[in-house]
Amino acid sequence: METKLLSTDDESLEYAAELLRNGKVVGIPTETVYGLGANALDINAVGDIFKAKGRPQDNPLIVHISELSQLDGLVEDIPDLAKKCAEAFWPGPLTMIFKKKAIIPDTTSGGLDTVGIRMPSNKVARKIISLAGVPIAAPSANLSGSPSPTTAMHVFKDMNGRVPAIVDGGMSAVGVESTVINFEGDGIRILRPGFISKEDLTEITDNVIIDKGVLEQLSPDTVVRSPGMKYRHYSPTADVTIIDADADKFRAFISEHADSETVCLVFDESDCEGTGLRFINYGANSKQQAQRLFDALRELDEIGAKKAFARCPEKTGVGLAVYNRLLRAAGFQVIKL
Ligand code: TXA
Ligand code: MG
Repeated sequence: METKLLSTDDESLEYAAELLRNGKVVGIPTETVYGLGANALDINAVGDIFKAKGRPQDNPLIVHISELSQLDGLVEDIPDLAKKCAEAFWPGPLTMIFKKKAIIPDTTSGGLDTVGIRMPSNKVARKIISLAGVPIAAPSANLSGSPSPTTAMHVFKDMNGRVPAIVDGGMSAVGVESTVINFEGDGIRILRPGFISKEDLTEITDNVIIDKGVLEQLSPDTVVRSPGMKYRHYSPTADVTIIDADADKFRAFISEHADSETVCLVFDESDCEGTGLRFINYGANSKQQAQRLFDALRELDEIGAKKAFARCPEKTGVGLAVYNRLLRAAGFQVIKL
């Protein structure tokens, strides 16, 4: 099939919405990463998302809405904490897990009795959902296992020939996927860190915990709360190692251990000054690193890097999300100096 790149003018968005109404899969921009959208209530449409991505059937999809009023029809009960989070962080990069109503097909929820719901802040995303008139299931628009896409070109590279259209809304503002949380007792559990940080959620309740799977490699037989945690993720071809060190120690380490096929992921050019090594600058602070990380991981492949040494991000605020994604890209290889 031919994959059309669409702009964000009214006519193009109406066309994208029409495709969605007709059960087709469309690449759409959001503030976090690009999504591969389809009617969340249509089993065949959702099935086509799994096919296009090569995604395991038991990995549930997030359902995207454009108005708060859609929530009631999709989920069983809405805890008070969820209402507070919606008020504080929606529209925005936060996904909340609820008990699902029967209207959400098992294909969408990966066989679970819960469903993740998010109202994106990206205006183009909300306009497409609203024009389509149905909730939109959308995983990140990458092939399963690859870094999530933050530009329409990234989506095109992975999905050319697999979906009829991709809406080009420019570079994603946040760059890492939404924070995924669930509610347990009177607390919040972070299943996947994102731009809405633990510190942000602590404004709502003191009782916020980070799930074990966020920073630890789970053994294959662990029962996980979020199926996405157990799959291989964000993996470039290069063998990535995180180097947890200050700039001086980092420079000393790479001078000794890098070879001509190594590329360094750095915060600043000066991190590898004088080494003559190739490098990709992925940003000087956590926000920039979030926005650029996935593009940097894709670039590693484009330049044919065999090995990569990455400076370790901060583990607070949105930095925790950057660290969580980089850890998976590195297959949990970290050297602390
Ligand atoms: O920012 C985002 O969330 C992007 C954009 C497109 O909205 N979407 C996204 O979807 O990242 P995806 O499918 O790539 O990641 C969804 C994650 C997976 O790790 C999945 O296992 C988890 O959320 N998840 C979805 N529904 C869940 C549920 N009912 N219970 C636990 N985890 C769930
Ligand atoms: Mg994904």
